[in-house]
Amino acid sequence: MQEGKRRQRPADPDDRAVPRTHGTPLRALIDRRLSRREVLRGLAVGGPAVALGVVSRRGPAAGKASPSTLTFQEVPHGVSKDLVVAPGYDAEVLIRWGDPVVAGAAEFDLRAQTAAAQAGQFGYNNDFTAYFPLPRDGRASDHGLLVVNHEYTLARLMFPDPGPDRAQRTGIEKAAHGVSVVEIRRTGGRWAVVANSTYGRRVTAETPIAISGPAAGHAWLKTAADPTGTRVTCTLANCAGGVTPWGSVLTAEENFNGYFAGQAADPAERARQRRYGVGGRPRVAWYKIDPRFDLAREPREPNRFGWIVEFDPHDPASLPRKRTALGRMKHEGATVAQNGDGRVVVYCGDDQQFEYLYKFVSAGRIDGADPAGQKDILDRGTLYAARFNDDGTLDWLPLVHGSGPLTAANGFESQAEVLIQARRAADLKGATPMDRPEDVEPSPVTGRVYVMLTKNTERKPSAVDAANPRGPNPFGHVIEILPPGVDGARDHATTRDRWNILILGGSPVAGGGRYPAQVTENGWLATPDNCAFDPRGRLWMTSDQGWNWHRTGTADGLYGCDLAGPGRGLTRHFCRAPVGAEFSGPTFTPDGRTLFLSVQHPGADGVPRGVGLAYPATRWPDFQADLPPRPAVVAITRRDRGPIGA
Ligand code: FEO
Ligand code: CA
Ligand code: CA
Ligand code: CA
Repeated sequence: MQEGKRRQRPADPDDRAVPRTHGTPLRALIDRRLSRREVLRGLAVGGPAVALGVVSRRGPAAGKASPSTLTFQEVPHGVSKDLVVAPGYDAEVLIRWGDPVVAGAAEFDLRAQTAAAQAGQFGYNNDFTAYFPLPRDGRASDHGLLVVNHEYTLARLMFPDPGPDRAQRTGIEKAAHGVSVVEIRRTGGRWAVVANSTYGRRVTAETPIAISGPAAGHAWLKTAADPTGTRVTCTLANCAGGVTPWGSVLTAEENFNGYFAGQAADPAERARQRRYGVGGRPRVAWYKIDPRFDLAREPREPNRFGWIVEFDPHDPASLPRKRTALGRMKHEGATVAQNGDGRVVVYCGDDQQFEYLYKFVSAGRIDGADPAGQKDILDRGTLYAARFNDDGTLDWLPLVHGSGPLTAANGFESQAEVLIQARRAADLKGATPMDRPEDVEPSPVTGRVYVMLTKNTERKPSAVDAANPRGPNPFGHVIEILPPGVDGARDHATTRDRWNILILGGSPVAGGGRYPAQVTENGWLATPDNCAFDPRGRLWMTSDQGWNWHRTGTADGLYGCDLAGPGRGLTRHFCRAPVGAEFSGPTFTPDGRTLFLSVQHPGADGVPRGVGLAYPATRWPDFQADLPPRPAVVAITRRDRGPIGA
């Protein structure tokens, strides 16, 4: 660790609940709450959490053979400057912040950064990754497109001191947001980016994007620059995402509120924006350069963010679209299940404490003979919010204009206004406030859906419920949802599911974690965030403790577990992030022999801040004295070229 006094932990913007200006979510919560004793009794006698199966609140098992099908040797918990992966595996850097993406882009030069150069280079703080085999619709696992989004920037680790002035920095940071598309190929066992590929593309905070679906053209989306309310130049705060059956990518706008300063003059607009935490002094000071981020100048601009963005990565000229039918929230991600009847279902989490889980069910059906023909299928359908009942059932509540309280009397004149105010619509419908829903992903093998609930430090002991059984909940948990039907043929369009809790995060010794008894001292995790499935249907989860890794004594990591058999829920520690980093966006190639993994904000969280580029806690991955740490994507492979895990 570095010299210097550790600063007080800054509040994580995802942590704090935002005030509800309308609706009754907290009252609804109180109405349905169970006392902590009742919840624990439920765990013991067969309430919804009974699927925990064999659980342990004792210390980790020692010396017994693991029932897990994951046979790698676990990585020890701990903290270090470098990435640590299980023995027998390699984690090679595929692309770093500043590396060329677009054909002809400049090489990274820390001391000669420009917005124009950055707009052709890999952006900062890579989060989601998606792999598209080439040729299209094939299953190649050695050649494809990698789509990676870039959530946010960290000026203090990006620029030397003295560095560019504020206007230049703002331009560079805007260009470092958005999405990158690169062509990649594995040759001789090693992955590399194909230089100067015609697929290379950057989407940035200056890219034109269409607004489509029911909210397109609504008055609340109109600005001076866009009097039609149908076109916005910018996507930002892109976190997780998803891949569609028709070969497009979905990327989720999450903490957009942190970019807007001041407040709207209109009290009604101000009240709507408060529900999203918009207003006041933002984390990002672009408003000092670009008036569209100043609410006094452009009060409706925030309504044009918080959407799911879709585009075709195979066509570098394709116009990205904000799909408003999927609702406006702090979207963590958007993962897709194709229903047996051809409808498309998209699961989304709203990542903030006490926010909700959602799903969208398309009105149209995919034409199996021409999946690419249904390009705008995400513009029409029904958005639902989840109510987790204490008896282990789950009701999906339709956010449809005119249904129940979603009427003009409550401030919803149209479906557009329901979608723009999706959070408040879910409040009024009585959705269950959750412990920060991050990734929500259906297993492609079983159709069961896994919900990463990262944490909720504000939940009171008196306000727990069966689906959020700990108050406070600093280490998160994972819920498993079972749509009706059998594995491989489940009905994701249903309005009623069943659910249970897979694991409670945290140390089973000191953090109240609950896992199968065989979990090792290195196998438990805290604060699950992103997830992915390998071809055998095993679940892999990243952790994101933020500044709280000091509480657990271990850096963030990647953990895998079986979802069936004797190793069900038995998490095992596969890979550990460099200090101050989190892993995100795990993605497997179709053959399961490569795992792409984002390393986000190395040297940032929970370490002394330093000045300029001085004192970084790590300089991963370059480890050069004149370079800062750089976010990067790694390709993890087994040295014997076998499948990841076993
Ligand atoms: Fe950007 Fe919810 O993590
Ligand atoms: Ca996340
Ligand atoms: Ca995922
Ligand atoms: Ca995260």
